[in-house]
Amino acid sequence: MNEKELREAARKHIVPAGILTDVVPAWEGPIFAKAKGSIVWDTAGKEYLDFNSGQMCSALGHNNPRITKTIREQADVLTHASSVLYNVPQIELAKRIADTLDPPLTRSLFLQSGSDANEAAVLLARRATKRNGVGALSLAFHGFSDVTRALSFFGASPGYGPSQPDVHALPTPYCYRCPHKGESCCLAPLHYGLEALDKDCPGGPAAVIVEPLISAGGVIELPKEYLSGLKTELEKRGSLLIYDEAQTGLGKLGTMYAYQHVGVTPDMMTLSKHLGGGLAVSALVTTDEISKTATEGGLMYGHSHGADPICCAAGTASIDEIVENDFPKRAAELGEHWQGRMRSLQQKYEIIGDIRGRGILQGIELVRDRMTKEPAAKEADSIFRHCLKDGLLFSLRGRLKNVFRFVPPFTTTIAELDKAVDIMEGATRKTLGLK
Ligand SMILES: Cc1ncc(COP(=O)(O)O)c(C=O)c1O
Repeated sequence: MNEKELREAARKHIVPAGILTDVVPAWEGPIFAKAKGSIVWDTAGKEYLDFNSGQMCSALGHNNPRITKTIREQADVLTHASSVLYNVPQIELAKRIADTLDPPLTRSLFLQSGSDANEAAVLLARRATKRNGVGALSLAFHGFSDVTRALSFFGASPGYGPSQPDVHALPTPYCYRCPHKGESCCLAPLHYGLEALDKDCPGGPAAVIVEPLISAGGVIELPKEYLSGLKTELEKRGSLLIYDEAQTGLGKLGTMYAYQHVGVTPDMMTLSKHLGGGLAVSALVTTDEISKTATEGGLMYGHSHGADPICCAAGTASIDEIVENDFPKRAAELGEHWQGRMRSLQQKYEIIGDIRGRGILQGIELVRDRMTKEPAAKEADSIFRHCLKDGLLFSLRGRLKNVFRFVPPFTTTIAELDKAVDIMEGATRKTLGLK
């Protein structure tokens, strides 16, 4: 089909839903045809720097050769297998993940998406603690399945049907906009949140789930002090701490996992996004003890494609690629260069209020005035559209719709980073009416 025919067919045959429909709707945007490394091409042959890494799942670079080779080889051996019995790549991936983790995180359950893995984490937490309540942060995003959507307090979901019972929002420690500025100020939202949670869940919650660095909610890193305080308080209550490392795990932040940087090990962790190097596989990782208590009496849970050999083989190849190339170190270098360039732009343009993030998960918050921090949502929308036109893809996120999120692949070159900065600067100047 040519581009015109594709657009026509899409208009007629695709349900127009998407992860983000309010900035540039899919039917107005480019239709992607091929990709390599950090670049994607649309049907008209136009080139884009993909600082979204697809949907953050191509962080090893689009069509990473090790992944495509693994897929080709595994496809001829065993593509799909029973979800009741084990298969070889499934066991190999479980062992490979365990090798990269610190004890007591030793066991994995495989699923297909970040939502599935978080849903499984909640289920296991409920079974292990024999409680139901689950807390999540007010700016959290954990997925679009029913339970995870209910825990994704960042996105309102009007008309989606009833929410899940016994899910509870906790205030987010959002340093840039914190009203409590001062020493250990991040402990204020922790204590207010726990006070409310204790009322909602008198016997203690089953778990609290957090992203160590909130991604869709606005690229907000949770302070170490907050996370260690949360862990201590949950332990006192016999409740579990779950890290959703969909966006932060597997090297993106400069360490293999965010919890290693934070120094606070969770009871459960979920991995997804680039775990399969572009293929759909996710993991819930936990301890022997939780695995044992949660599966007591038998746990009927899983999906038909939960541990597909082809996806698990890609998962092992993806971890090998990350470890052998020391991608965490590369992420740290790219992040440092990016932030240096962004700081130079910040000196020129008042609109860049805050620069934050770590490794290859970077954000900037746009404001009309650095004192009042009035969100520059309209300007953000305009810059975003100019960048799209000029060949740079990233996301517009945050509760106030004024945060840009950049997730370039690990394989991005410094020249590509610089080109993206130039496109950003050009788009900013056009938006601000500067020559
Ligand atoms: C932190 C986090 N958790 C979970 C999810 C959901 O993952 P999936 O879209 O694979 O269900 C996402 C997706 O963007 C995410 O950012």
